[in-house]
Amino acid sequence: MRMAKKTLKDVDFAGKRAFVRVDFNVPLQDGVIGDDTRIRAALPTIQAILAAGGSVICASHLGRPKGQIVESLRMGPVARRLQDLLGPAVKVLAAPSVDCELSKGAAKGLQAGHVLLLENLRFHPGETANEPALAQCFADMADVFVQDAFGTCHRAHASTAGTPALLKPAVAGLLLEKEIAAFDMAFGSPKRPVVAVVGGAKVSDKIVVLESLLDKVDTVLIGGGMAYTFLAAAGEAIGSSLCEEDRFAVARSIVDKAKTKGVKLLLPVDHLVADAFAPDAKTQIVEGALPEGWMGLDIGPKTTEIYANELRQAATVVWNGPMGVFEMEAFSHGTSAIAKVLADSDCISVVGGGDSVAAIKKNQVEDQITHISTGGGAFLEMLEGKELPGISALDS
Ligand code: 3PG
Repeated sequence: MRMAKKTLKDVDFAGKRAFVRVDFNVPLQDGVIGDDTRIRAALPTIQAILAAGGSVICASHLGRPKGQIVESLRMGPVARRLQDLLGPAVKVLAAPSVDCELSKGAAKGLQAGHVLLLENLRFHPGETANEPALAQCFADMADVFVQDAFGTCHRAHASTAGTPALLKPAVAGLLLEKEIAAFDMAFGSPKRPVVAVVGGAKVSDKIVVLESLLDKVDTVLIGGGMAYTFLAAAGEAIGSSLCEEDRFAVARSIVDKAKTKGVKLLLPVDHLVADAFAPDAKTQIVEGALPEGWMGLDIGPKTTEIYANELRQAATVVWNGPMGVFEMEAFSHGTSAIAKVLADSDCISVVGGGDSVAAIKKNQVEDQITHISTGGGAFLEMLEGKELPGISALDS
């Protein structure tokens, strides 16, 4: 592991209660879970602790209730799904109340082989404020801290950073280990060439990522709305495409840095343009300068082929961010093409971020990708080369 943290293997869980910080922040609409990937991803850790004779206190946030009880963000649906996934041999109990002291009582009475799911941690104002008293209350519930909430490790909150500082041993769970190992594969001593595919709407969201990647990769393929800021900064006509004029200087400096470092940085050479930002807009393929009044909403076929060729030659690929407006079917093809090429390649592929992961799922190629991260913001911060507080708090 890149950060050489202690893991489940370093702890004897027999007769012990483990406080397992998981990321069960799943999409939830009217009490229905839209995607339970994050719950499934935590199962190996929970099952390993139970199999070793321990009991598990699962703790997660759900949404952003800002320190107040929000009925639609209660953990009930998550508890039921967790029970279904673990099966009848495991008893999943829901915490009796939001109140930490009451939950502590339930935790202390937990039998080996049982799981207690705490109520939404962000119902406590002290969670995001990393309040010591709340971290202490969580710490008092258990004998061991296990961090498996990779998706939340970039937050220095009570349950992610405060509690592991107080509750020892504090170790990485199996999911976190896997997430860190994937970054190690891509950036530790990777198989070369390493290609990064970076997309998304705004350059401003990806500046640090791009600057950090230039130190690590051989090629960067840029797509999505952010490509138009790069093109405009180079003096190209971009019609009415998304553009951050205040980022021209940084875009130029990224291009210059890539040249100095010998990193190949590619921008789209053709575009699927539309006369409006709408799913049923009039569209055409344009090469070079974009006509007035038209906006680029996806990469064109030539660009797709150039990027696909780069990916076919890559030994390692890291991908974050869509190539176009993926949520509109008409502009999702470039992003889907990247997903398919990656799936057909033998390279080590690490993918993170909402739209990139959605493209992998939409094309049903999950099994052909080396690692699909459960992190959004956390994945980005790892790409930025940052140390995540939820990881640094663990025992080395
Ligand atoms: C996520 O969904 O990226 C994590 O669960 C973190 O959620 P947050 O951005 O609300 O902290």
